[in-house]
Amino acid sequence: MSDLIRDDDVISNPSANSHLHDLIEREIARNPSRRAMLKSGMALGMFGIFGGAMTACGGGGSNASAPAAGAIGFKGIPISTADTIVVPEGYTADVMYKWGDPIKASAPAFKGDASETWLQQEVQSGDNHDGINFFPFPGTDGNSRGLLAINHEYFNEEYLHNVAGFNKPEILDNVKKQQAAMGVSVIEVQRNAAGTWQYVQISDYNRRITAYTPMTITGPAAGNDLLKTTADPTGIEVLGTLNNCGAGQTPWGTFITCEENFHEYFGTDNTSFTPNALQSRYGIVAAGSNKWYKSDPRFDLNVNPNEPNRFGWVVEIDPYMPNSKPKKRTALGRFKHENAECVLSSANKAVVYTGCDERNEYLYKFVSTATYTDKASGANILDTGILYVAKFDAGTVAGDNQGTGVWLPLVHGQNGLTAENGFANQAEVLIKARQAADRVGATMMDRPEWVAANRTKPGEVFLACTSNNRRGSATPASSNNVNGSTVAGQSRPAIDEANPRAVNEWGHVIRINEMAADHAATTFNWDIFVIAGNPSLTGANTGSSFIDASNTFNCPDGIQVDPAGRLWIQTDGGYSNTGNFVNQGNNQMLVADIATKKITRFMTGPSGCEVTGVCWTPDARTMFINIQHPGEVTGSGGLHPNTPAAVVALTSGSARQAYMNANPTALSKWPDGATAGRPRAATVVIRKNDGGVIGT
Ligand code: FEO
Ligand code: CA
Ligand code: CA
Repeated sequence: MSDLIRDDDVISNPSANSHLHDLIEREIARNPSRRAMLKSGMALGMFGIFGGAMTACGGGGSNASAPAAGAIGFKGIPISTADTIVVPEGYTADVMYKWGDPIKASAPAFKGDASETWLQQEVQSGDNHDGINFFPFPGTDGNSRGLLAINHEYFNEEYLHNVAGFNKPEILDNVKKQQAAMGVSVIEVQRNAAGTWQYVQISDYNRRITAYTPMTITGPAAGNDLLKTTADPTGIEVLGTLNNCGAGQTPWGTFITCEENFHEYFGTDNTSFTPNALQSRYGIVAAGSNKWYKSDPRFDLNVNPNEPNRFGWVVEIDPYMPNSKPKKRTALGRFKHENAECVLSSANKAVVYTGCDERNEYLYKFVSTATYTDKASGANILDTGILYVAKFDAGTVAGDNQGTGVWLPLVHGQNGLTAENGFANQAEVLIKARQAADRVGATMMDRPEWVAANRTKPGEVFLACTSNNRRGSATPASSNNVNGSTVAGQSRPAIDEANPRAVNEWGHVIRINEMAADHAATTFNWDIFVIAGNPSLTGANTGSSFIDASNTFNCPDGIQVDPAGRLWIQTDGGYSNTGNFVNQGNNQMLVADIATKKITRFMTGPSGCEVTGVCWTPDARTMFINIQHPGEVTGSGGLHPNTPAAVVALTSGSARQAYMNANPTALSKWPDGATAGRPRAATVVIRKNDGGVIGT
């Protein structure tokens, strides 16, 4: 099948522009030496460059028909290095729910000096907001009152504790405070007559779920020997959820929260401890970075070697039932889940897309056995089904950054997932999902972050590949060992069409269209929607032809498609504004018109933050987003340009954190603006001043 025939398959696209962008991208992919000429031609509007090819795609120039659904109507904003949120003219951003905000009558107001105890933190907002979903309140119009479920991914050591408590995990109260600052918030939110939103401090729905909240393990792996511990000989009762990153929302009204970098919380001082193959494949090491084991033996690998196996799952929470017990759904596999995008297939099966965010890891999806009909049918629908992992193939044309793909089932007894190869049963396939994916030959990706379904086009999903600097740097290239023995993050694969840059500092977004527009399909077509890049650089580092100074960004992470089909892109990348990230400023949020691929910058965040998590009220007139880790001084892409000179002079991350612990507002005073206090992760509410749909 030729490019053009395949391109013509995208008949829902009402504009010639996307065809033009696609053609230019494919031409650049095939002939990199033409990059500069093609990109400058794009800027100058030289649409005739493809001659007959353009005619085949419907002709050049603009399509003058009615605006397409999902079109963008605001004026994009420039980059920013300021310690504030900037949104376009005609929009307002209100900070609503900040780390430390009280959620119970008994909770103290945020003190600002980190003197709260762990019991007080337990009834305040957690730290480092991430995935977020809105649940309309029953009996209302659904757009002015609801529940927000919000992930709290981890904690900022330097701001969570005061000087006396900083970096002292040997004190159990400090570890308990960290555990209380993580997990999930469920809060009631309301819009007042003036159009602004508040959370309701005293609501029966308000709830904090922490790293020690009791929950049940369900599905095929529940009760497996690898999940049993001294404290839980049944292997079905676990305390807490860890490192809740992205999330998802089910059609039956539950929140599915994802356990990502759970490995960081385990370790041991036992010098004879050696990680086994399963632990190594998940990055478990004796010198775990958060050292909870110093005072909480549950996280000591030498004492509780199976405790890590009880994390790395997707956890389902019913926000409408504040006393309900969260459930870890093992049928969705155990890995470092980024988010969990839940949609229905053509036959109303529940389908959950979920990526494993680490360099050279995989993209998965779960398809339920049962059919969804109503809320009751969804109750345990995520416990039975097939987990698949994605294999991206080059397709019939080489070098054009698009191709075909196959969903490979991770089913015991199939494709080498046998007892002889280390998988005694389906429970072990799921507990060792990374190793199962190694065995079946999945495609190693450039850090799969969020997956977003386009609900205006059945079968279409987008995948953010945020970055990868462990590809193409070894000779010969290596890959994950088929026997699952690879130490996490150690392989160095060659580039492939779905991951085309050897050193991918800026990331890219892949578009998948399932066969027959069915999310349950076992084959798909894919193409690279956008290659992020920096037009201040050269060659492949400049990204797609339609990336310029007005919309340059790096490291796409949170992505979601809004109800009208616009793709929103949030970044968690380099904010140094120098080197690879020069002229890219603070982390930001942009929006793409999927039909035309026009990408416009919508928001810039405060100093040292990432922008992550986005949801809407059903009418799409209120947008909720999260700002995570404002004031961070340990970003991998270099220091923020406003970093104090005293911090720049320090050479280690821990020394820099210690300085910030003693001088917490030295880089960021966001959101409170006060010299006293500390930077605070927060939920931000964005609305259009005229009450219109966000993005129009
Ligand atoms: Fe928690 Fe991969 O971001
Ligand atoms: Ca191809
Ligand atoms: Ca993320």
